[in-house]
Formats: sequence, C-alpha cells, structure tokens
Amino acid sequence: MLISPLFLAAAISSLRVASADGSALVARQGTELPGPLTDPRVTSMLADIPGFGPLPNVTDVVTNATLPVDDIQADILVGMRKKKERFYFFKINNATLFKAGLHNTVVAEITSVKKILTVSTQPQVAVNLAFSQAGLTKLGKTDNLNDTVFSAGQAADANFLGDPGTNGWEPTFVATSSLHGVILLASDTTTLIDTQVAHLEAVWGSSITKLYELQGAIRPGAEEGHEMFGYKDGIAQPAVFGFNLVPYPGQLAVPAGIILTGEAGDTVTRPSWTKDGSFMAFRKLRQYVPEFNNFVVSNAPPVANKTTAESIAIFGSRLVGRWKSGAPIDKTPLVDDPVMAADPYQNNNFDFFHLLSNFTSDQSHCPFAAHIRKTRPRDDLPTGALNTIMRAGIPYGPEPSNSELTNGATTQDRGLAFVAYQSQIAQGFQFLQHSWANTPTFVPGKNVQPGFDPIIGANAGNDRWAVGTDIANPTGNLTFPVFIKSNGGEYFFVPSISAIRDTLSV
Ligand code: HEM
Ligand SMILES: *[C@@H]1O[C@H](CO)[C@@H](O)[C@H](O)[C@H]1NC(C)=O
Ligand SMILES: *[C@@H]1O[C@H](CO)[C@@H](O)[C@H](O)[C@H]1NC(C)=O
Ligand SMILES: *[C@@H]1O[C@H](CO)[C@@H](O)[C@H](O)[C@H]1NC(C)=O
Ligand SMILES: *[C@@H]1O[C@H](CO)[C@@H](O)[C@H](O)[C@H]1NC(C)=O
Ligand SMILES: *[C@@H]1O[C@H](CO)[C@@H](O)[C@H](O)[C@H]1NC(C)=O
Repeated sequence: MLISPLFLAAAISSLRVASADGSALVARQGTELPGPLTDPRVTSMLADIPGFGPLPNVTDVVTNATLPVDDIQADILVGMRKKKERFYFFKINNATLFKAGLHNTVVAEITSVKKILTVSTQPQVAVNLAFSQAGLTKLGKTDNLNDTVFSAGQAADANFLGDPGTNGWEPTFVATSSLHGVILLASDTTTLIDTQVAHLEAVWGSSITKLYELQGAIRPGAEEGHEMFGYKDGIAQPAVFGFNLVPYPGQLAVPAGIILTGEAGDTVTRPSWTKDGSFMAFRKLRQYVPEFNNFVVSNAPPVANKTTAESIAIFGSRLVGRWKSGAPIDKTPLVDDPVMAADPYQNNNFDFFHLLSNFTSDQSHCPFAAHIRKTRPRDDLPTGALNTIMRAGIPYGPEPSNSELTNGATTQDRGLAFVAYQSQIAQGFQFLQHSWANTPTFVPGKNVQPGFDPIIGANAGNDRWAVGTDIANPTGNLTFPVFIKSNGGEYFFVPSISAIRDTLSV
C-alpha cells in the first residue's frame, strides 16, 4: 500500500486539531482513510457504456476549459456512468463537531470533476456532499440562495410535481426538518463503499445520524446502462460550455450557468460562495416493471407488416421515443438500429421535423408525448429552450424475479434513484416534470393535445392519457395506468469544494 497524500493530510490535520481542541481529537483518532481506499486505481470506477461517448479528455479540459474542474464536485458533470452508488441521507446532531470532521478530514476526500476524468487520479470511492436548506441552516448559513423551490424543500413541492401529496413517500423525505444532507458514494464495489462509509462514520462519530440510505447499481450483463423498463438511459445530456468542448451532433449545448450556479448564463444573484455549485433534485422513483411489460404487450396495436413481437417493441419505443437499444425512433421508427444507438455522433443527431410531413399532425416518427420529446421538445419549440438538467441517477433494487414477471405483479422495490443537476430548480427538474411531462396541452401548436408523458407524467396518482402512441392512428387517445410511483425525495445544494472548505465547515 502506498502512503498517499490524503493519508498524510488526514494525519497532519489531526495533529493540528490536537493542539487546538483536545476533545475533538478523541473523536477523530484512527480516522485516517483506511488502506484499501488510498490505493491508486488501475481500472475505472465508471462504466464505459456504448452510446454515451467518453468523458472529455482531462488534458484538453485543463488546457482549454474555463471551468475550475478541480473545484466542482464530480457528479455534477459526469452523468449516468457509475457502477455502484450509495445515497447516504443524514442528520447533523452537532454542527461544531460535524464541521471539524468535514474541515479537517472529509473535505480532502471530496472528489472533483478533474479527478474523475482519468483512471489514475480516480479515488477508490468517489465522495460528493450536498446539503438541504435545513442542513445549511443547521450549519449556521442563513444566506438566501435565491432558489425558493430549494429553500421550501421537496415535500412542499409534492402536489405541484404531480405526486398524490407525500402519500407513498419514504418517511425521511417527509420529515424534512431533520434531513440535512446527503453523501454520494460511487465506486465499482459495494465493499469499497462500505469501507468509505465506516471511515466517514468514524470521522463524524455522533455528530451525524444516518436517516436512510439507498444503494444503486448499474444493471448486469446486457442490461448495463439500461433503466429497469429495459431502455438505455443517459444518452442525451446537455453539453456544458467550458467542459464538453466539442458537443456531439444534436446535443443541446448550454452555457455553464444553466447547470452551475454563478457561471455565465445563471441569471440569479446569489452569495459569492455559491459559485460553481449546483442544485440537485433527488427522487426515489419506484418502477413497476412486470406491470409495465404487460401493459405494453396487451395494448400494442398491430403494425402493418410486423410480427406481434415487433409491434410490441414498436409500441414500447413510442412511449419512450427510443428503442431499448437507445436508437431514436425519430430516425428509425419501424426497426431498431443498434449501430446507431451505440454511436454518439448519430444517436442524438435529430430533431422532430421531417420534410414533406405536417409538423402539426405527423406522429409517424415520434409521438408528441414520448418521454424524450416531452422532456426535450427540440424544434417543437420554435425559439428553443434552455430548460434542461444534467441527469446523474442510477437504477436501484434487484432485477425482476421470474415469479414477478410470471405473475405480472411487482413484489420487490426497484426503480430509479433519479438525480438531476441545474442552477435553478424551477427552470430545470421542476419545470420538466410540472410544465412539460404533466401538462397535457404541452407541446402547443399541434392538431391534438399530446397528453401526459406516458413514462413519467404524473396526475396526482391517477391514470394518465396520451395521444399518438398508435403509429396508425395519430389522434387515438390511450389511458395509461401508473408505472412509476414517487417515493419522494429532497432538493440539495452541491457546493464547490472550496466553499465547503472555506465557508461551510468553518
Ligand atoms: C423512472 C423514471 C424514469 C425513467 C425510466 C426514464 C427513462 C428515460 C429514458 C429511457 C430516456 C432515453 C435515453 C436518454 O436520452 O438518456 C430518458 C431521457 C430523458 N429523461 Fe428520463 N426517465 C425517468 C425519469 C425522468 C425524470 C423524472 C425526468 C425529468 C423530470 C427525466 C428527464 C429526461 C430527459 C431530459 C431525457 C433526455 C431527453 C433528450 O434530451 O432527448 N426523466 N429517460
Ligand atoms: C488526452 O489528450 C492528450 C493530448 O492530446 C493525450 O496525450 C492523452 O493521451 C489523452 N488522454 C486520454 C485519456 O485520452
Ligand atoms: C485545446 O487547445 C489546444 C491548444 O490550443 C488545441 O490544439 C486543441 O485542439 C484544443 N482541444 C479542444 C478539444 O478544443
Ligand atoms: C458539540 O460538541 C462540542 C464538542 O464536543 C461540545 O462542546 C458542544 O457542547 C456540543 N454542542 C451541542 C449543541 O451538543
Ligand atoms: C435573486 O436574484 C435576482 C436576479 O438577479 C435579484 O434581482 C434578487 O435581488 C435576488 N434576491 C436575493 C435575495 O438575492
Ligand atoms: C383523452 O382521454 C382523456 C380521458 O378519457 C380525456 O380526459 C382527454 O381529454 C382526452 N384527450 C383528447 C385529446 O381527446
């Protein structure tokens, strides 16, 4: 084992604390980063998923980029590539002790964007840290972050998001006054994550209490990179100026301030220490996979010259807007194209307009209500829109069992640990969910109301409807039961590493 700089930093800071505060030292004795976690990495902690395209080259980013990638927390710009990820939700019992552990030990272990880009600089476990409004208040930070959706908390937003109030929510997300923060821990094994958690719990001792945790994992084998319904997820992400230096064709290129607070393009005035942070929307979205599968099988209209199995696959793809492979149906509506799906130069390179077809009525390529069209209408909005999010979620829960699939009934808890980053929640996650996915009149200007997003559209727990899912009947109106139930979540602020070190932990 190598003695890493992190180890030395931890040891030195413990000494420093010893002279300042003898009692605090007791809490942190033996809390150096444990051996296995200081070993350099030889294999990446991130999955290499066909169709995502590699992360930017670190040399190019450091040479050419304008963002301080060594100060921005990694998850904000990395996307849905993690192999294992744990969400550790906690309460702060003693802010003084919590800050001491954070300042003297943990802040040096928080993983930056820069570190995650190269295997040799990746830690064994990537650690990111975020605070709720209640958490910032607990730390004595009463500054107004100027995001009312964040400061009110997600429970207050439940009805607006289309949830049936907080019915069905995890209790931790309802009792918002004690949910102060979340630690994100990503690695390639849960054993390494366990070791990192034990270390953090030793550092913080009784100053924090774990309230709830959720273990996410990339799905096994051929399902790698696919969400629980079986569709490749995480393909379309915005390209952030100053980081994604060369956007792929069809990527939505946005000023960094759409995702990062205080960067160019963020129109809101906030305290200076919030620069290069991001607001994180976390949602536990439980998916009913056998029920979804059976609905798709039972409701798939026959498509001319296609087998039953092909008609079923076409119908499913029309709900998402992509085939299970990830190939966009706008480009290939009647047959899957795995080669296109795996090619980042092709798999986003489309809009919804087609020559010689009527833009107000043509749903033969992609239905107006399809998930990817609702959440990114592309040229359906003539002036475009910068309402977007960086998605960084991961599936959680076991694979569907044979008995669940045979009986057509979910008995186990599985779904998506949904994470979205943005500089303004009201322009990002909340907007996409409320104003687009849940609003039947969106997108306007068509000859019919599109209806709800059949995947995520939410109607206070009631059935939803959408038109155009039958390729042969563009005005046909179908009712969809609920396939995804919200178990709630919270809004967090993900500060820059320097803000944690210099402002939040002192
Ligand atoms: C369990 C819940 C969800 C599932 C199963 C799901 C599934 C998918 C899939 C399969 C794709 C296509 C692949 C891709 O482009 O990455 C996608 C894209 C997308 N989803 Fe979701 N999603 C879920 C929740 C959400 C939520 C809650 C939002 C936001 C409110 C959202 C926003 C988006 C966006 C913005 C895209 C990319 C659209 C584009 O730029 O073309 N998703 N999702
Ligand atoms: C990044 O680019 C540099 C300079 O072009 C090159 O030497 C290096 O091998 C690249 N790194 C990776 C990981 O591709
Ligand atoms: C980064 O800058 C170098 C030197 O100016 C240039 O050769 C290279 O093409 C740039 N790379 C990108 C991705 O912009
Ligand atoms: C927090 O811990 C410190 C150090 O042990 C102690 O002096 C202080 O009283 C504690 N504060 C609270 C509110 O318990
Ligand atoms: C919030 O940002 C807006 C837009 O810059 C600004 O007008 C307003 O004064 C800010 N409010 C606070 C409390 O900082
Ligand atoms: C589709 O059906 C639903 C429920 O029956 C109804 O509320 C909605 O208005 C219909 N939409 C259209 C465009 O006909």
